[in-house]
Amino acid sequence: MNILALNSSPRTGGRSKTELMLDRLVEGMRDAGARVEVVNLREKKINNCVGCYTCWTKTPGKCIHKDDMSGELFPKWLESDLVVYATPLYYHTMNSAMSRFKERTLPAALPFIEMGDEKSTHPLRHRVPPAVWLSVCGFPELTEFDVFSDYLHRTLHKDVEIWAEIYRPAAESMSTPLFRETVNDILDATKRAGWELAETREVSPETMARIAQPICEREQIADLANMFWRTCIAEEVSPKEFDEKGIVPRPYSMDTFMLVFPHGLNREAAGDGRVLMQFTFTGEVEGQCWFAVEKGNVKATVGTCDNPDIAITTPFGVWMDIMTRKADGQQMFMEGKYRVEGDLNLMIELFKEDDTRS
Ligand SMILES: Cc1cc2nc3c(=O)[nH]c(=O)nc-3n(C[C@H](O)[C@H](O)[C@H](O)COP(=O)(O)O)c2cc1C
Repeated sequence: MNILALNSSPRTGGRSKTELMLDRLVEGMRDAGARVEVVNLREKKINNCVGCYTCWTKTPGKCIHKDDMSGELFPKWLESDLVVYATPLYYHTMNSAMSRFKERTLPAALPFIEMGDEKSTHPLRHRVPPAVWLSVCGFPELTEFDVFSDYLHRTLHKDVEIWAEIYRPAAESMSTPLFRETVNDILDATKRAGWELAETREVSPETMARIAQPICEREQIADLANMFWRTCIAEEVSPKEFDEKGIVPRPYSMDTFMLVFPHGLNREAAGDGRVLMQFTFTGEVEGQCWFAVEKGNVKATVGTCDNPDIAITTPFGVWMDIMTRKADGQQMFMEGKYRVEGDLNLMIELFKEDDTRS
């Protein structure tokens, strides 16, 4: 099977979640023996359709533009056994690069109007290959793709098939290390989907469910996103610069602190036992929360616990400065900026840096 996979994300340098998903889908297709060519539309010169209908009249089947679409992509597209259209969701639909590609496939249709029972269509000049649509989006709900999916089905030509629609919401959260296990399962399932498509021309409901599974609670996606954007704005960096500079997102509330704090802990420090760590915050965010570290897990709870091993009382801003590496924890302690009661050595062990957690 010859497959053409089109990626319309403009993002480069491993930052595109469309690309992340497409890579795994293609891997699965190749494992099943398919020949797959991946084309990044951003690298191609594809002019806008100018609506001249020359491809329907003076030069039937041929576009007036002399660009990569006419010279390379349109013939490849026609010859493929399957085309994967991989697009980021922009304003609830495919992005403009993919839309431009679609417009330029007009030479594959004939100008005449054929009456169907309910819908008129243009007959096709050529066989148009079946499609797989792959899309990712930022919001956490799978329903974010409803408008796009509805559009695809309402506009589907009777002689063109869709073998699968693969949608991944909350895609931007796939790069946070907080949900590594779930993200790996989503990526494995996407690879499996590629294999299934090449073998059976469809994706099983089980595989589809794994691809679309929630990464975490919806509220957590919102917390993570808001923390990320607030930090970008405060640091005056774009998301790309945020990644390049290794900036740590700054919690702005008890919930966001409780979400990210466990990730930085050296859980081994608890050994076979259970360590209780109490926080009392003052200043911009006031309140209490505590963490139980046990058997490699960390449980976060609002309020106070009995007999904590470590109790930290600190202005919220001071602790966030330490967490985001703007201030040195030891120095702040020496200067009395925060207070610790309990096992200081255990605290030092718990906060030991470990590259594998980042
Ligand atoms: C112009 C623009 C419009 C977007 N519209 C939506 C949208 O309607 N719904 C949504 O959930 N995410 C939306 N997003 C977020 C993207 O879908 C998300 O960032 C995705 O990861 C981008 O894909 P990429 O990483 O492959 O570039 C939009 C992003 C941009 C830049």
